[in-house]
Order: sequence, then C-alpha cells, then structure tokens
Amino acid sequence: MVMASSPVLHGLRGVIEGLRGEAGFLYIAKARELARRGVEVISFGVGQPDIPTFDHIVEEAKRALDERFTGYTETAGIVELREAIADYLNERYDASVRADEVIVTTGAKTAIYLALASFLNPGDEIIVPEPSYPAYPEVARSLGARPVYVPLKWSPGSGFSLDVASVEEKVSPRTKMVVLTNPHNPTGAVFSPRQVDELLDLARRRGLIILADEIYDNFVYEGEFKSVLTHSDWRDYVLYVNGHSKTFSMTGWRLGYLVVRSDVARKLTRLAVNIYSCAPSISQRAGVAALKGSWEPVRKMIEEFRRRRNVIVEELARIPGVESYRPQGAFYIFPSVEKLLRETGMTSEQLVEHILYNKGVVMLPGTVFPETAGKNHVRLSYAISVDKIRKGLARIKEGFEELLTKTRK
Ligand SMILES: Cc1ncc(COP(=O)(O)O)c(C=O)c1O
Repeated sequence: MVMASSPVLHGLRGVIEGLRGEAGFLYIAKARELARRGVEVISFGVGQPDIPTFDHIVEEAKRALDERFTGYTETAGIVELREAIADYLNERYDASVRADEVIVTTGAKTAIYLALASFLNPGDEIIVPEPSYPAYPEVARSLGARPVYVPLKWSPGSGFSLDVASVEEKVSPRTKMVVLTNPHNPTGAVFSPRQVDELLDLARRRGLIILADEIYDNFVYEGEFKSVLTHSDWRDYVLYVNGHSKTFSMTGWRLGYLVVRSDVARKLTRLAVNIYSCAPSISQRAGVAALKGSWEPVRKMIEEFRRRRNVIVEELARIPGVESYRPQGAFYIFPSVEKLLRETGMTSEQLVEHILYNKGVVMLPGTVFPETAGKNHVRLSYAISVDKIRKGLARIKEGFEELLTKTRK
C-alpha cells in the first residue's frame, strides 16, 4: 500500500533539513567527475596525507585479522590502545592522563559528536572562531544549540591569530563551550602559547568548557605549539579531541579519541555504546602499533610536508591577486584572493568553479568554513607531491592572470 504522505520525509527535524554537508567532499566529487571525463585534475582539496598508512601499522592489522580479532571490543576501546594513547599524551605533554580518561571513537569526528551531544542543550551557545572546520557548528546546530562566530584576526604576511578579548566579548549567559582547533584547519595557524593560555584562563574565569581539537599536533613546522593538556587543571574544563587519521595517515581506519576526566568518561561511554558500540577492532590493534612502533615514518612525513609548505608559500607569492602568509602547521593554507575578487567581481565560489572547470585544479572556497569570515579566501591543502603543487599553482597563476587581463581590457 502506498501512503498518502511519507512520515520519513515529513518527519525530518527542521535543523537536519538545514544542515550543510562538508563542502570539501562536494568539490572532490566534482573533481572526480571531471577526471572521469579525461581531465588531469590536480587537487588541493583533500584533507588527508597522500602517503599510504605505514607498513608496520598495516602488518599489525593483518595480524589482527589472521587472529580473527574481529569482534566487538570494550566501547571505550581496548585497554592496550587506551594505555598507549595515555602514554603518548603524557610523554609529550606531561598531562597525567589515565587510560580510563580515554574514549576511543570512530575517527575524531565521532569524538567531536560525543563531546557536543553530551554537553550542549538546545539554546546553549558555542563560540566558534571562524573560519572553522565545519563539524563543530553543524553538529551544534543539529542539537539545537547556537554557534556564535568570532572571526580570527587576519593580516596579510602574518596570517591568522586568535584575539581572546574578542572571544570574551561574545560570552553570554548562554555560552557553554568554546572551540579551540590548534593547529588550525583551514588556516594552518598554530596559536601562540600566550593565546592558548589566555583562552584557558577565560574558560576558568567564566566557567566555560574548551573543546580542544589537536588532531594536527604533529604537523608543526615552526613556532611553539602548546597543548591544552599542559595545563595541570585540564580535567576541570577541557574536552580533548585527537586521533590517528592525520598523524599516521589512517583516515579510512576511523580511529580517534576523546580525553575527559574519568567520572565523566564513564557517563559518555554510555552514550557512545548506543551510537557506535566500539571503534573497529582491527583498527584499534593497528592503532596500538602506530603509537608504540617507530615514529621515523611520521618524522619523515612531517619533513616532507614542511618542504611542501615552503614550496606553496614561495609559489603563491608569485601569483597576482593573492595575499598570503607562512602557515606554521597542519597542511593547509588559506590565502586571501580579495584583490582578485574585487577586480573581477567574482565570489570565491565562482572563482573556485572557474579554476576547476578551466584549469582542472581543485581549491575550496573560504565560505565553506563555514560562513562568512572566509569569503575572501580559498583553502589549499598541500597534502600532494611537490611536483603537483608546482604544476597546480602554475595553472592557478595562469587562470588568475587570464581573469585579470580580461577584466582590465
Ligand atoms: C580539525 C579537524 N578535526 C577533526 C577531523 C576529523 O578527523 P577524523 O577523520 O579522524 O574523523 C578533521 C578532518 O579533516 C579536522 O580537520
């Protein structure tokens, strides 16, 4: 029997109708379509290292499969992995994290979801420095909470910084949480230890939670990176997110983690079990090998990314209409194309589409991160070879020059 109207269609909550997908994935799909038509596409779109997962990690996953380690595990993760994560964080940040303060998740994204779903009530506000990785505000909105954006400070030449005084101006009686992504996606900024300290001090003074996402903590090329976990009272106000996706090039393995004081971790695990039961058992075994095995491949990868960062900075400086800077971390750069947009009358979306369809190069428009602060910017991920970076930027340069010549005629 056919129903007159579909309750599945009409029962959808309004906030879900209004959610934006992660636009990065949209442009990647467009690029794939172009490639299928025979275009040699160069993509600065993807947010994952191009280097395959390191051999010793894959070997451990194979061993886990051979041993048929293929069942459910504890929801919070196998104890070997939670201990390995705690050891890693303690060695690195002197953080005194215990294994029972770690919840292993299906990627860092699930850690973000778990954190937000556990703390945000409808009507609560979450302060999001913008531009931002879109998951925090989108998940917050899906929960009926309200993202309140604070623009990062931008200056050509020196890049993006966090002005804690302007964060404080946005604190209201409804503010529950502040997001700190460090190193930062999409700008590649590494916030200074002073900025981190000031933000944590604000949280302490105003009784706010800091959602700290440090998934790029190994991708730091210069400057000093300070983890929130170095603050000895982190347990009182920090929800800490990290994971294996970027550091060990394990994006498809879906392995991330949330660190939170143990009494709260126990409660959050009750929500986790109802969402995903546990992270994939095989990935968890591989995740132990990643943390405890040799870090030499990670070091090599970071050196390669440093080289790429230097090349992209150098090459972008030669492109007309672009104002750039030297990002200190992650593997993104978020230059301003304001001059080009002003001269051509284009939006950053139009510019990105134009370059995609005329030059076969993928960039992401700044407006997908996620609203207006990035409207004069584009994001380029340099998780591709130096050759491709040079070739892609040569095409972008050509495209920008053509656009400028056309408008100046
Ligand atoms: C800042 C940030 N947090 C979290 C994630 C998600 O990581 P995962 O793939 O482990 O879910 C990403 C991925 O791009 C990211 O950039």
